[in-house]
Amino acid sequence: MSAPSPSAHATVDQDALELQRGQTIKSVYVYEVPVRLWHWINALAITILCITGYFIGSPLPTMPGEASANYLMGYIRFAHFAAGYIMAVGLVGRTYWALVGNHHAKELFWVPVFQKAYWAGAFSMLRWYLFMIPKPNQYVGHNPLARFAMFFVYLLLSVFMIVTGFALYGEGAQMGSWQDRMFGWVIPLLGQSQDVHTWHHLGMWGIVVFVMLHIYAAIREDIMGRQSIVSTMISGHRTFKE
Ligand code: HEM
Ligand code: HEM
Repeated sequence: MSAPSPSAHATVDQDALELQRGQTIKSVYVYEVPVRLWHWINALAITILCITGYFIGSPLPTMPGEASANYLMGYIRFAHFAAGYIMAVGLVGRTYWALVGNHHAKELFWVPVFQKAYWAGAFSMLRWYLFMIPKPNQYVGHNPLARFAMFFVYLLLSVFMIVTGFALYGEGAQMGSWQDRMFGWVIPLLGQSQDVHTWHHLGMWGIVVFVMLHIYAAIREDIMGRQSIVSTMISGHRTFKE
């Protein structure tokens, strides 16, 4: 049996050293199970809503054959409504968790706009995203700019989509249904049914822009930032580089 080569020894020693150093890194538990579960279920629901919503707005060409054998648009609308219910119930559950969860669970629901330090942090992150500074700050929860987008773009838009979505649903469920009684007032407020369709449709593009920037920022931060990002939304733990 031949002795292991010196370079193999070096690797084993190096691994042991790296392990020792790695074990000194402690993580912070940031996102609790309900926040993470909500994030990924909601992301899936939003994806389904955007795809099916797009086809509700621009329907596929009429299928040939018996109408009863071609229910494609019916399935698309069903998937839209099912995902819409999941999104709405999910947001109610997420709001409950903001009340009983840890302080990071509350970050989505308010922004400290009256704190000077908050704006300094948000502008610093903006400069970091624009490649204007070499190093970003480190944050345990959401960074201040992410917080701005999550509240002012995502949260407000998603409430708008739920309210207008259920108002449209109320038209199908007919007068007197709970959807009509709770959300029917939205239709005259925005004009008439077609106006609600148009605003609901426009809202989709707002959400699509948020999601594109959000995924770009999450992956960019994971690579270039100074803390763990995507894995934090999977395991809940944040680790810091350097
Ligand atoms: C439709 C798709 C998505 C939507 C609507 C969405 C929305 C959100 C929202 C609202 C938050 C705040 C969570 C909270 O405070 O409860 C968040 C956080 C987060 N999302 Fe997404 N997300 C989507 C997809 C994704 C994807 C695909 C990734 C991974 C590449 C991702 C990575 C993250 C990460 C890492 C955080 C935490 C960021 C931090 O710690 O500051 N998201 N997302
Ligand atoms: C992010 C969330 C959502 C997106 C992106 C979205 C997208 C869309 C789009 C693009 C349309 C077509 C509008 C048009 O051009 O006429 C639509 C229609 C509709 N959506 Fe949504 N939607 C969302 C949430 C919801 C929710 C929560 C509900 C509630 C159940 C809902 C119910 C409806 C209804 C009833 C219609 C009309 C269907 C029809 O006329 O056949 N949507 N949605």
